[in-house]
Amino acid sequence: MQRQKQIRIQALLSLALTSAFLLSGCRPLPPSKPASQFTPQEARGAAVFQSHCARCHYPTTTHSLHGPGLQALTKLKSMPSGAPPTGARITQTILYGHGMMQPVPISDADLEDLLAYLHTL
Ligand code: HEC
Repeated sequence: MQRQKQIRIQALLSLALTSAFLLSGCRPLPPSKPASQFTPQEARGAAVFQSHCARCHYPTTTHSLHGPGLQALTKLKSMPSGAPPTGARITQTILYGHGMMQPVPISDADLEDLLAYLHTL
């Protein structure tokens, strides 16, 4: 009897802890691909990111610099604006800007490499 009660309390406790964790929005993000495993295209994209995006966006966290951190950008349901993180939507954000973000004109080749890199985040 005593043992059953203990198990029930334990179950309740872990349920409470799990919901507190989920409600706090502190869900762990899917892992990023390590740079050592980048394809040549992803590595080129990382360089494009360094020269065109890094001064405003962190790639390894969701914390903001000037714009939102982009960790797990393409693996989440939506971007900070609520739009889905599709290639078309991200391309539009880069080439035409979005809200406070100015357009970043880059070549088609750089854009392709950059998109490949963004998928590793
Ligand atoms: C001069 C600063 C600056 C640069 C450079 C910059 N961004 Fe941004 N970016 C921003 C700001 C600010 C926002 C937030 C815009 C808003 O919501 O009003 C943003 C938003 C975004 C978003 C989220 C869009 C959404 O729908 O929520 C993505 C994705 C993004 N930037 C990608 C990039 C990429 C990739 C590059 C490099 C090609 C880049 N940015 C370069 C400032 C910058």
